[in-house]
Amino acid sequence: MTQEFHKKAIQHPIFRLVGETSEELGIDSYVIGGFVRDYFLNRGTPKDIDIVAIGSGIELAKKVASKLKGKPQVSVFKNFGTAMIKYEDLELEFVGARKESYQRNSRKPIVEDGTLQDDQDRRDFTINAMALALNTSNFGQLLDPFNGRKDLSQKIIRTPLDPKITYSDDPLRMMRAVRFASQLNFEIEVKSLQAISENKDRIKIVSKERIVDELHKILMSEKPSIGFKLMHQTGLLPIILPELTALQGIEEVEGQRHKDNFWHTLEVVDNISENTNNLWLRWAALLHDIGKAPTKRFHKKIGWTFHAHEFVGSKMVYKLFKRLRMPLNDKMKFVQKMVLMSSRPIVLSEDFVTDSAVRRLVFDAGDNVEDLMTLCEADITTKNPRKQRKYKNNFKIVRQKIIEVEEKDHVRNFQPPVSGEEIMKTFNLKPSREIGILKEAIKEAILEGEIPNEYQAAFDFMLQKGKEMNLNPVSNEK
Ligand code: CTP
Repeated sequence: MTQEFHKKAIQHPIFRLVGETSEELGIDSYVIGGFVRDYFLNRGTPKDIDIVAIGSGIELAKKVASKLKGKPQVSVFKNFGTAMIKYEDLELEFVGARKESYQRNSRKPIVEDGTLQDDQDRRDFTINAMALALNTSNFGQLLDPFNGRKDLSQKIIRTPLDPKITYSDDPLRMMRAVRFASQLNFEIEVKSLQAISENKDRIKIVSKERIVDELHKILMSEKPSIGFKLMHQTGLLPIILPELTALQGIEEVEGQRHKDNFWHTLEVVDNISENTNNLWLRWAALLHDIGKAPTKRFHKKIGWTFHAHEFVGSKMVYKLFKRLRMPLNDKMKFVQKMVLMSSRPIVLSEDFVTDSAVRRLVFDAGDNVEDLMTLCEADITTKNPRKQRKYKNNFKIVRQKIIEVEEKDHVRNFQPPVSGEEIMKTFNLKPSREIGILKEAIKEAILEGEIPNEYQAAFDFMLQKGKEMNLNPVSNEK
């Protein structure tokens, strides 16, 4: 095999230092994994650096740290045989080369010391098993026993060993394969795809947090549908996100069909990914139609309906986040709100767009109104060019109206111009139903555009409304 050197990848002085220190300890060390892969992909030089030592990774880390400026702390994870140093903006993870095998129903490996080749054998993919030598004698030499470079150029995800072994060793790798394919726009080798399909149920022994991490990365890729299609094809999707699989299929009754909401959803996710890097907005696109499966009905007169699917869907978001142990925080609430409101601008754009409808939209969506518009624009997947043009144009009008209405009425983050306290004082009322009625009437009048969102107009309106309710102001100072 010809020897290739790639010193350019490891120009940072830290690599020389690690190499020299290894020599002092009488061992070899290599930089391996994502760092090498991303260098060859021209994805820049990553800040996460994995170093494998043919010996004790912990000892090497300690000795390296003692030579570094500021003597950074070494975090040792004894159970894993790893040690980590944070230095400048780098995160260096040291591990001793290992020969590992896993027991069938446990993630806990039996670990023995090994050679570099042993360590490369047990890595997930050929493109992640490439190593660059750090010792002085062969500094920068590429050790690529599985031809990862060729797989990089051919855009192939392949495992170093028989894929059955690689995926069975760590079932998360099934999700990683899908994720790398989605992130890098690579293909998964056929043998590997088959092994994933056969081993799919083993994903159940992996922690939800690790799975969600991969889902996030799939969603953040340029074209997330690549990942979701692969999950679908291999059977991982119904295990992880059954709500999505349930959307698949077209039913026909009495000649009436509905669209396939699964494939539609994937299109929406790809569309939105062209316009936003907000992970949670991408989640909202993924989940915006999940309420359609449980609400689907056929009516003889009107055909297919998905009545209240937005409401049902937003409830399902909570359950889904909970099941996947995702935080039930404001991010989840944002996704719920987007799902709940996901049809609002569409309805608007089908009709003539009135100011009051736009004002209500801004009032209900608040600061999320732009995100909601982004979601709804992504939701246009019609292949009918006339409809496509009409919706897009109407959304343009809605966006313009949102700006105009906001400039005029400031209903975003609405604060009632006349407070409940002032209503009580004006009519000498104790806390009662009437105050709520008056407040609601003022809000409605503003949203309908009957009065501007200003104090004096609202106060006058309140007096008039009070009169209709047989309430008399105690004084007419105002
Ligand atoms: N690895 C593995 N099996 C796993 C996870 C990781 O074999 N389940 C190996 C791979 O060689 C990988 C390296 O450990 O390259 C580092 O893993 P990690 O930091 O999780 O991923 P990266 O490959 O660096 O990629 P990214 O940063 O995009 O997650």
